[in-house]
Amino acid sequence: MRQPYSFYALSAFFALITAAPSAPQWSFNLKESTSGIVALESIVVSPTLAIFFDRASDDPLQINNHSAWGVLWNLETSTATALDVFSNSFCASGALLSNGTMVSVGGDPRGFRGNPVIQPGNQALRIFEPCASPTGEGCTLFENPDTHHLLEKRWYPSSIRIFDGSLLIVGGTHVNAAFYNIDPANTFEFFPAKESTPRPSAFLERSLPSNLFPRIFALPDGRVFMVANNQSIIYDIEANTETILPDIPNNVRVTNPIDGSAILLPLSPPDYIPEVLVCGGTATDTLDPLLLSSQTPASSQCSRIKLTEEGIKAGWQVEHMLEGRTMPELVHLPNGQIVIANGGGSGFAAIATVPDPIGNSNADHPVLTPSLYTPDLPLGRRISNKGMPTTNIARLYHSSITLTPQGNFLVAGNNPNVNINTTVEFASEFRVETLDPPFMFVERPKLLSVPKKLRFGQRVSVPISIPRSLRASNIKVSLMDLGFSTHAFHSSARLVFMDATISPGRNLLTFTTPPNGRVYPPGPATVFLTVDDVTSEGAWVMVGSGAPPPTLE
Ligand SMILES: *[C@@H]1O[C@H](CO)[C@@H](O)[C@H](O)[C@H]1NC(C)=O
Ligand SMILES: *[C@@H]1O[C@H](CO)[C@@H](O)[C@H](O)[C@H]1NC(C)=O
Ligand SMILES: *[C@@H]1O[C@H](CO)[C@@H](O)[C@H](O)[C@H]1NC(C)=O
Ligand SMILES: *[C@@H]1O[C@H](CO)[C@@H](O)[C@H](O)[C@H]1NC(C)=O
Repeated sequence: MRQPYSFYALSAFFALITAAPSAPQWSFNLKESTSGIVALESIVVSPTLAIFFDRASDDPLQINNHSAWGVLWNLETSTATALDVFSNSFCASGALLSNGTMVSVGGDPRGFRGNPVIQPGNQALRIFEPCASPTGEGCTLFENPDTHHLLEKRWYPSSIRIFDGSLLIVGGTHVNAAFYNIDPANTFEFFPAKESTPRPSAFLERSLPSNLFPRIFALPDGRVFMVANNQSIIYDIEANTETILPDIPNNVRVTNPIDGSAILLPLSPPDYIPEVLVCGGTATDTLDPLLLSSQTPASSQCSRIKLTEEGIKAGWQVEHMLEGRTMPELVHLPNGQIVIANGGGSGFAAIATVPDPIGNSNADHPVLTPSLYTPDLPLGRRISNKGMPTTNIARLYHSSITLTPQGNFLVAGNNPNVNINTTVEFASEFRVETLDPPFMFVERPKLLSVPKKLRFGQRVSVPISIPRSLRASNIKVSLMDLGFSTHAFHSSARLVFMDATISPGRNLLTFTTPPNGRVYPPGPATVFLTVDDVTSEGAWVMVGSGAPPPTLE
């Protein structure tokens, strides 16, 4: 039977549309469900689940007849399920261990309005064992202060996974600090513990009083880079020595309450030469909040240093973002670019301590358009917001962002208020967005099957599929730790490129894993395949033996 004429007209019309598709763009996409609690900390714990933490407060989401302050966020359904947290996780940090277990570290010493269910959190170690259920069913946080606790009380500490798969935990304050560090925990310790007392740190002494949430990175030789206030060092864990590096230039300070952010740039074989990028913060001589303002301009400065002998001699190389940013966050894209998101154009972290807060926010002028930083471009040309979308949701103090195994970014939080305040400017924020790269809207390459466990220095071949539309002239395979987001810093975040080739038939990918746990600390990772700038969904793997980190006998 002949089709009526109109059928042909219609199909010609559709053929025309599909022949000239408009190129997909970056976009922000608001989720229908909210986070239920303020998502001020976030960490991806499985291919389908992230955990958000807030302070123990009066968040709307309830569990066991009280407000929740932790949730499991389902990345597939974009919905939150309350977690019953034991102690106050406000301003904690965290990371994944070599056996895949998530540990949330430290927090707030206070309960909330006398609620007896809330235990002090400043010596807490909250354990979330690897969760096989895609929806998180049956998976829960475990806490026992008698058997699992920090050696020292720590609020606002940083934690990273190191070469043996354990956590290095750095700094913090013992007590409630309204603005800067008044009762410092100027020490390092490990989980599991490597000794019975914490290690004193001259670096943390020097970087007072703006040294909360130090920005720290495990370097590919096993040592650790740290920046706090305007000071930086390399710490040798095995020798327990600190090597002083040059100050961040031009009086710019970059740790809480003067939050800039920092990131370890992608590491590439064969030499894995580490470079650190530090962006935002504020140039100021005073830390007296009464002499500061919500209108104090944030710094646009990015400072970059190559951590080789010559690189350190050459010092920090300065470039500028398109705007000043306090509390920005820097996150890797699987292709090696860096997303600069969140934060404000003026002011500071912390709550209502400057004389002119906006509502209760010490910061103002939210920056609503992310930028991209391309590490390989020449100085002065690396930062651009061309084609980047603009949101209408402020992400100032107590916001978070993380890359997901799906390849997009989960953006949530904002609460520069005491407890929940929904009526003030810069109100407690429960809306969740994704920031979606253009590749989320096109046919993507696929990693069809990746072994669940990858050894170090292993050549691995895996079946893949590559859309016909891609020429496949540029192949990148990245091994990533998606990190833990808190207070404008993404600790443990890491991207290690792996040497890779594809078969002539484009259906087999062969790559070589990093040589050892110094280049990629043993533990969970996500593998992404990027073909001509179109990135696959990630494959969740375990790098190394999957054994627990060493414990003190
Ligand atoms: C829940 O809390 C309210 C108010 O504190 C109390 O009246 C009620 O008995 C509690 N319900 C349960 C099941 O514990
Ligand atoms: C770093 O801060 C200290 C203490 O405020 C100051 O003396 C020093 O000049 C600063 N360094 C730079 C390079 O601005
Ligand atoms: C919200 O913040 C404003 C400004 O500080 C304050 O007046 C108001 O009482 C707060 N509301 C709540 C519920 O705390
Ligand atoms: C992983 O190691 C930690 C630290 O020793 C331990 O608390 C946790 O129970 C271990 N989990 C698994 C699944 O082995």
